[in-house]
Amino acid sequence: MSAADPTTTEAWARLDALATSYEPDLRTTLTPEWVDRHTLTAADLHVDLSKNLVDGDVEAALLALAEQVDVAGRRDAMLAGEHINVTEDRAVLHTALRMPADATLVVDGQDVVADVHEVLDRVYAFAERVRSGEWTGVTGKRIETVVNIGIGGSDLGPVMAYEALEPYRQDGLECRFISNIDPTDAGQTLSGLDPETTLFIVSSKTFGTLETLTNARLCRAWLLEHLPSGADRDAAVAQHFVAVSTALDKVADFGIDPDNAFGFWDWVGGRYSMDSAIGLSLVVAVGPERFAELLAGFHAMDEHFRTAPPESNVPLRMGLLNVWYTNFLDAHTHAVLPYAQLLHRFPAYLQQLTMESNGKGVRWDGEAVGYDTGEVFWGEPGTNGQHAFYQLIHQGTRLVPADFIAFARPAYDLTDRTDDGEVDVHELLLANFLAQTRALALGRTADEVRAEGVADELVPARTFPGNRPTTSIMAPALTPSVLGQLIALYEHITFVQGAVWGIDSFDQWGVELGKQLAQELRPAISGDASVAAEQDPSTQSLIRYYQENRGR
Ligand code: F6P
Repeated sequence: MSAADPTTTEAWARLDALATSYEPDLRTTLTPEWVDRHTLTAADLHVDLSKNLVDGDVEAALLALAEQVDVAGRRDAMLAGEHINVTEDRAVLHTALRMPADATLVVDGQDVVADVHEVLDRVYAFAERVRSGEWTGVTGKRIETVVNIGIGGSDLGPVMAYEALEPYRQDGLECRFISNIDPTDAGQTLSGLDPETTLFIVSSKTFGTLETLTNARLCRAWLLEHLPSGADRDAAVAQHFVAVSTALDKVADFGIDPDNAFGFWDWVGGRYSMDSAIGLSLVVAVGPERFAELLAGFHAMDEHFRTAPPESNVPLRMGLLNVWYTNFLDAHTHAVLPYAQLLHRFPAYLQQLTMESNGKGVRWDGEAVGYDTGEVFWGEPGTNGQHAFYQLIHQGTRLVPADFIAFARPAYDLTDRTDDGEVDVHELLLANFLAQTRALALGRTADEVRAEGVADELVPARTFPGNRPTTSIMAPALTPSVLGQLIALYEHITFVQGAVWGIDSFDQWGVELGKQLAQELRPAISGDASVAAEQDPSTQSLIRYYQENRGR
């Protein structure tokens, strides 16, 4: 498949022309009809696109662009299991991970849905044994803590969802997560744990990741050292270590019983894997039923993306808006601002999903792109961000498109009893959610500021330009299903952008060089002068600084 250069399409030229003359004015754009037309539904998500910086001509040209680069064709190729990850010659089938058990999808002669459900059933059965106390540690005690050892896609999804679904967790079972090679992470996470009641899940697609294998060995040594003397060492590893990986041979080499290993497939990218067996820690925490609801939520969004017409296809529309901002209005970043404390790890999760996927400088046919790709995604929960970085979004010189996410029902329903009466605290949160997008869209003119009695010399500093684009996403509540829908929404937004840009959103060669160099120069840090001498002067100087200050 050759990659279309999007800049050669008629639609791209049209968007270029439109961007030159486009003058946003959300104060006049935001009519009830406009809001109506720009309020879309995808599964349980209520998505208000009306406060974005587009007009009808821009929207038509964006949809034409999608058509001219054949986003739908590429989507269908992905869903059918074609090898659209060309640099790794792999299918891209995370959508198969959430297809119902009675569906069939034959890829390369194999029904992948049957494979998915076979593993899922084992994952569910294992999780139930841990949750019920039937699965015990080697000394016969019930498991109370599950430690997931993994990094990147083998960590960020499970930890994000574990936090997001906190109200659904089983009491008496805690999950902890070790990812960083910084020994502080393992040191802190293991601190205070009882080895007799701790179960480790080593999660690694490749089972070759330095951080994960190092941490797994540290945890194994810690377990064996701290279990009561007399505990059978082999049995201890078998009872306290399970693994999730595509490389089951390497799992066995590590000493983990193959019966306690859960597989997945090379057609699941690491950052798209939290709904595979990589979600095992989450299944233990919230139970198979809730995990199945999460998968159903993913699937509902997949179906929306597959079947909704372009005008009402939310991932398509949001992906195209991101292209508009990136390539025509010169935005470089994109903020994701959940007004839900439970989603506090969601921006970090999205950083890997979006930036590892679309941070590419060549198209899938190897040609250099001549246009910007992958924005920097970032964010924090509201209202914390309001008191930190929103200043720049409101009055700074940069355009920062932002997604605001909120839920009608609170996870914790608390009332503040003041002298003036009772205040529903969730309503305070929602008032902020609404106020921010309104302020960003409409701003405050100099005349309005003056009318408030502000002294003339302070008027410029207190004026808000407005026309700062936002999308508001709401849902009834942060349920497992809604979380699945949200994640799948962003997966497909990412896909749309990658398809327009003609890049392979499913490889990640950019992380390899650093890994290789770290292996090569490690002996220099430990004192190998000949390896140190091969390094550039800056690296040599930093190594010397380390050696002088290591303190041993
Ligand atoms: O180095 C990047 C990466 O390959 C990610 O894509 C992946 O999610 C992470 O490392 C962890 O990889 P693994 O699951 O194979 O340990």
